[in-house]
Amino acid sequence: MELLIKNGLVIDPKHKIKQKLDILIKDGIISEMGNDLCEENKKVIDAKGLIVTPGFIDIHVHLREPGFEYKETIKTGTEAAAAGGFTTVACMPNTSPAIHSKEVVKFIKNKAKNEGCVNVLVIGSISKSLEGKEISPIEEMVEAGIVAISDDGKTPMDISLMMEAFKKTKDNNIPLISHCEDHELSRGGSINLGKASERTGIKGIPSEAEYLIVKRDIDLCESFSSRLHIAHVSTKESVYLVQRAKEKGLNVTCEAAPHHFILTDDIVSLENTHTKVNPPLRSKEDVKAIIKGILNGTIDVIATDHAPHDENSKKVAYDKAAFGISGIEIAFSLSYSELVLKNKLPLMRLIEMMTIGPAQIIGIDKGTIEVGKHADLTIIDLEKEYIIDSDKFFSKGKNTPFNGMKVKGKPLYTIVEGKVVYERGKILCSQIS
Ligand code: DOR
Repeated sequence: MELLIKNGLVIDPKHKIKQKLDILIKDGIISEMGNDLCEENKKVIDAKGLIVTPGFIDIHVHLREPGFEYKETIKTGTEAAAAGGFTTVACMPNTSPAIHSKEVVKFIKNKAKNEGCVNVLVIGSISKSLEGKEISPIEEMVEAGIVAISDDGKTPMDISLMMEAFKKTKDNNIPLISHCEDHELSRGGSINLGKASERTGIKGIPSEAEYLIVKRDIDLCESFSSRLHIAHVSTKESVYLVQRAKEKGLNVTCEAAPHHFILTDDIVSLENTHTKVNPPLRSKEDVKAIIKGILNGTIDVIATDHAPHDENSKKVAYDKAAFGISGIEIAFSLSYSELVLKNKLPLMRLIEMMTIGPAQIIGIDKGTIEVGKHADLTIIDLEKEYIIDSDKFFSKGKNTPFNGMKVKGKPLYTIVEGKVVYERGKILCSQIS
């Protein structure tokens, strides 16, 4: 049956459209856009008072499968994505085994096809088992369909290995996504080095651990004329370095996660391991610089670094707890509340940072609303206010420091290739496939 979305305010950053339009979807493809399209014999969604945007794309997600199914699975992670308004996610390779061979890439693609609720793209590892010693077979993973390489969660410290990786990304026309952390400097640390580490006695991680690697990788990207995307920037120096790289005309992009532009290390306490994330929550000055980087365009995209963990991994002493925040379901609400409502980022730009922006970084033909293209769409109520409650998450990971926070703006429908996979609090995937 054809699906008609009526009366919504359509926002499409690629074509700079902000207009009341009906959208007709036939066989998963947008077949017509216009006013007063005929409702007869169609399933109708009345989007009056709502906005209709391209489906959100998150290029930094941990789905934990294979190997850590007790933390998340492709099924639960993509259901969480659908509930957050995301129609496409790219999953990171720190699984077990790691995504370091064509077999693992195929395994994930196959599982995603059978059990996934949204589109799943795969990121292959830079090094075998993310050990930073031996390069992964990048060509064979590209052939199997990876969209980028990364050792996210770790940084290969061997520069010759990184040189080889940058060369291979250039040859294969994919970006290298860098988790920037000098492990010599961060070793044993759990939070930002500064007032919070002095106050709590928890070992700190200096800003240098991040930005010295940002600098290293920008230099390597320049040497090899390849594409570098910096994951989860958390320090003011990183923002400055990316800005300089862009001014120089290098092919460098970066992302910020909601927790890094909303929270500071002031909220860290020994008791609350949900504040433990890597890179750590930083100082007020860092958060200010990230917001500024978002407002002036230095920061290209929002990515969640959705990092679900089981309770046991967090219910331990702070220094033993796992790093990570489960965040995909609340990313839009947090970003809209903090960036648009509080810091006056144009709504069009926020949507761009969650749709066409990430699509361009990983080189996929998505992130826009166009006749003839797949109907990946999100319908949002910007007026909806609610209190974050992780017990209501579809993700297995309930680990968030945002519990209890009041936010505004909520995705109500998520549509993947014309199928409604999420509708007003309900996952519909299994009924459709
Ligand atoms: O906090 C984090 N958790 N940062 C990372 O880079 C990895 C992630 C995870 O896999 O849990």
